[in-house]
Amino acid sequence: MEILSIKKLDYTYDDGESPVLTDINLDFKLGQVYAIMGKSGAGKTTLLSLISGLNQYKAGQILYNGNDLKSLDKEHYRSREIGIIFQSFNLLLHLNAVENVMLSINLSKIKVKDKLQHAFEMLNKVELSKEKAHRRVLKLSGGEQQRVAIARALSYNPSIIIADEPTGNLDGETEAQVLKILKNLAHNENKCVIVVTHSEKVANESDVVYRL
Ligand SMILES: Nc1ncnc2c1ncn2[C@@H]1O[C@H](COP(=O)(O)OP(=O)(O)O)[C@@H](O)[C@H]1O
Ligand SMILES: [Mg+2]
Repeated sequence: MEILSIKKLDYTYDDGESPVLTDINLDFKLGQVYAIMGKSGAGKTTLLSLISGLNQYKAGQILYNGNDLKSLDKEHYRSREIGIIFQSFNLLLHLNAVENVMLSINLSKIKVKDKLQHAFEMLNKVELSKEKAHRRVLKLSGGEQQRVAIARALSYNPSIIIADEPTGNLDGETEAQVLKILKNLAHNENKCVIVVTHSEKVANESDVVYRL
């Protein structure tokens, strides 16, 4: 069964003249990497904002485990079920990597034995060394910052991970590293990974490609 199912979705911004999304029908399952592609302005970021509950749709449905997002507790959905990796990472640059992950652990209110140890485990999962975990995020490279953003999204073990052009600002080698982590999350940890991308390489390595 689909973890996420989008049916006949239309969306127009309140101050927008024309619809950004019309009649979108897409299905997403656990254990797969999905690439969402499309020209700039096609509505990819808008679609992610609707999937993540940041914007409210009026026409059509987005079903999470068969339930319309509209009927779900949004706070819980956003802090537990879905992990979001923003285009701009949205990290707190003056804090170190562990502190960034700790913030998310505390916000989500998940129960773990040792929060600090859990934060290190998440950073280990994205292959960030202990030494770098203690460095201010400001002093990490783009690829390392992106991995901290992934660790943060993973900290409360969500079923869905969505990422808006996660490799957009990265060189080829770093892109491959981030892609490997995302694929591993889908294929070995049974997450549903949804990636908006312009990269043909990312699309080629995804299990399913949707074009808007
Ligand atoms: N907050 C907003 N208010 C009004 N229009 C918006 C807003 N955000 C995006 N748009 C418009 O919606 C369209 C799709 O934007 P977006 O989803 O960001 O596209 P993409 O991510 O595919 O480049 C664009 O025409 C954009 O100008
Ligand atoms: Mg965008």
